[in-house]
Amino acid sequence: MTQRVALVTGGTGGIGTAIIKQLVDMGHKVATNYRNEEKARAWAEKMKADGYDITLVKGDVTSEEQAAAMVKEVEAKLGAVEILVNNAGITRDGTFHKMKGDQWRDVIDTNLNSCFNVTRQVIEGMRERKWGRIIQISSINGLKGQYGQANYAAAKAGMHGFTISLARENAKNGITVNTISPGYIATDMVMAVPEEVRAKIVADIPTGRLGTPEEIAYGVGFLADEKAAWITGCNLDINGGHHMGW
Ligand code: CAA
Repeated sequence: MTQRVALVTGGTGGIGTAIIKQLVDMGHKVATNYRNEEKARAWAEKMKADGYDITLVKGDVTSEEQAAAMVKEVEAKLGAVEILVNNAGITRDGTFHKMKGDQWRDVIDTNLNSCFNVTRQVIEGMRERKWGRIIQISSINGLKGQYGQANYAAAKAGMHGFTISLARENAKNGITVNTISPGYIATDMVMAVPEEVRAKIVADIPTGRLGTPEEIAYGVGFLADEKAAWITGCNLDINGGHHMGW
């Protein structure tokens, strides 16, 4: 097994934490970024107690300058980034006819523009070394749309457009680029959806339950594997059958 350096953005959240554990369990060195120092330190302590020693770097993925500094720091501490998981994401739900410009821009900046800001910092190195894994954590709602999520669905669909263009441009350089589209996972983000709305959503999932962060992390491990070299430009739906199609 080749040990790689991985950067998972937004790694202190529910899905991010599980992705980091998966990559460490595969033998990789993993870093993540944070905006809130106090929260990040507490998270890192807990991870350490669980046996996961994670490199933390300060940086806001909505800023190209901060993303550049963040990647530079990871590379100084661990070495060149070979696996990138664009996972940082937020929701600012609301029906479009009431949506404010800030709700739109915050979501597009954090969920989509961040993919440019961070990936741009690592792509040249991956191309030179002729190896790379880039994985976007998108959403079921970027595929099917969702009431109250015009901003989020636009960003998440955009992430897959980004994936398939990057996959074409970099296939000859040993870099695979893929998307995972999680369905509704038991995280703080989903638990923030009003209970009666959430109950209706769960009733619509064929498996009859929310997913777990580990079920998404397993997909990341699969796509990041050395053996996944011919899987590129794909979208992997992990949603309990909530949305099916091709
Ligand atoms: N389909 C049809 N109608 C719906 C609806 C739906 N899914 N959801 C709400 N409505 C209707 C209501 O029944 C209500 O109708 P009436 O006015 O006729 O009674 C009306 O819409 C309410 O509309 P408002 O504009 O007043 O909306 P609101 O301020 O009450 O809140 C909302 C709307 C914020 C969108 C709320 O419905 C909501 O939180 N929905 C869930 C959105 C969601 O799924 N978010 C996912 C977050 S997790 C995530 O994003 C992770 C991931 O990747 C899956």
